Amino acid sequence: MDMKMGSSSRFNCCAILFCFTFLTLNLFASATIVSHDGRAITIDGKRRVLLSGSIHYPRSTAEMWPDLIKKSKEGGLDAIETYVFWNAHEPTRRQYDFSGNLDLVRFIKTVQAEGLYVVLRIGPYVCAEWNYGTMVGLILGEAAGGPYITTSYDYDAPLDEFGNLNQPKWGHLKQLHEVLHSIEETLTHGNITTIDYHNSVTATIYATEKVSSCFLGNANSTSDATIDLHGTKYTVPAWSVSILPDCQNVAYNTAKVKTQTSVMIKKKNQAEDEPSSLKWSWRPENTDRTVILGKGHIQTSQLLDQKAAANDASDYLWYMTSVHLKKDDSIWSRDMSLRVNGSGQILRAYVNGKYLDSQWSKYGVFSDIFEKNIKLKLGHNLISLLSSTVGLANYGPKYDLIQTGIPGPVELVGR
Ligand SMILES: *[C@@H]1O[C@H](CO)[C@@H](O)[C@H](O)[C@H]1NC(C)=O
Ligand SMILES: *[C@@H]1O[C@H](CO)[C@@H](O)[C@H](O)[C@H]1NC(C)=O
Ligand SMILES: *[C@@H]1O[C@H](CO)[C@@H](O)[C@H](O)[C@H]1NC(C)=O
Repeated sequence: MDMKMGSSSRFNCCAILFCFTFLTLNLFASATIVSHDGRAITIDGKRRVLLSGSIHYPRSTAEMWPDLIKKSKEGGLDAIETYVFWNAHEPTRRQYDFSGNLDLVRFIKTVQAEGLYVVLRIGPYVCAEWNYGTMVGLILGEAAGGPYITTSYDYDAPLDEFGNLNQPKWGHLKQLHEVLHSIEETLTHGNITTIDYHNSVTATIYATEKVSSCFLGNANSTSDATIDLHGTKYTVPAWSVSILPDCQNVAYNTAKVKTQTSVMIKKKNQAEDEPSSLKWSWRPENTDRTVILGKGHIQTSQLLDQKAAANDASDYLWYMTSVHLKKDDSIWSRDMSLRVNGSGQILRAYVNGKYLDSQWSKYGVFSDIFEKNIKLKLGHNLISLLSSTVGLANYGPKYDLIQTGIPGPVELVGR
């Protein structure tokens, strides 16, 4: 016989929002006109090629920003792109936070101080291994960035999260950016023609009256090509692009980039050598910000979705219920089991205050049945289930409808 403790609640969200807004801010002059003329972005009427790199301000401290931005500029960027992380700015409706690493204005001013533009992606959706796409305040070393993702997001970027140059990539990109800047005029004004050499080999020519710039591309991953361009022979290695700013001399080839090949050495964390410098501290879970009546606990007759109940203020949610058993209950036996339909993240079960067992599944599994034998007593029994999320789904079809916590049913099965 089954005893159901409730049915699952549904999260009401009808569609995934893909409303990115792009806005370029120039904070130097108040009367700068930023536009697009069909060919390129224009700033005060001048066509520009803006090379932009992404720095997500909440992922580093405000003290780290100047160095990250300076290194981005040295690497040849014109603009810093970032999402606006609304879940962190407005964790609870109408309660705003723009302090510390959430100080967006300070971030933009820091970019301005380096003479770069900001490409602001206003949001609200954030597709950046950010919990739930719009959720989890996160800073280095804390919390999760998406399901089963801890703190890393650099994906082998030229500048890692700590501000270290990822060489030789950083150097390669710096060279590439220099070459692209040198041909900004032809890229934004030149007439474009493409020559097809077959076998996935092409030449693209940007021509103005003064100068022509050429890109030689070989998208064939196995076969080098030798082509004739304006009477000169060029070798275009397999899977490469060569840039010829004057259509004569190769200034950059992706297959043979010239740069000093310094190797980044990741040093051992100092804390490992000096355990005494590694300080751990405990802090109580902040339950004030859970949505339900602004209180840390609530009684309901149904199982609640964890992200709705905890409002991402905590990764933990206790589901507790009691069952009163009498001798003549048909379900009563000394040999029963507790069966919980969980959402695949971490579940720890306790019966009458005693730890029973725990279970979790792999990344991408959103449903998981937990079933263990339990011994209940006659009278009052307390069943406590601690659900812990390890990051919420942040993209994919209907990702917002994926249950978190314990969707249920939670059942006592008698034998
Ligand atoms: C790559 O080059 C080889 C050898 O010339 C050719 O057989 C093959 O079809 C090419 N592949 C593509 C995708 O062009
Ligand atoms: C592009 O081609 C057109 C037509 O031949 C010509 O009038 C124009 O001047 C060319 N533009 C540049 C920038 O060379
Ligand atoms: C478990 O919960 C999931 C999500 O709500 C649901 O799709 C599934 O049918 C449930 N499984 C059982 C056995 O009730």
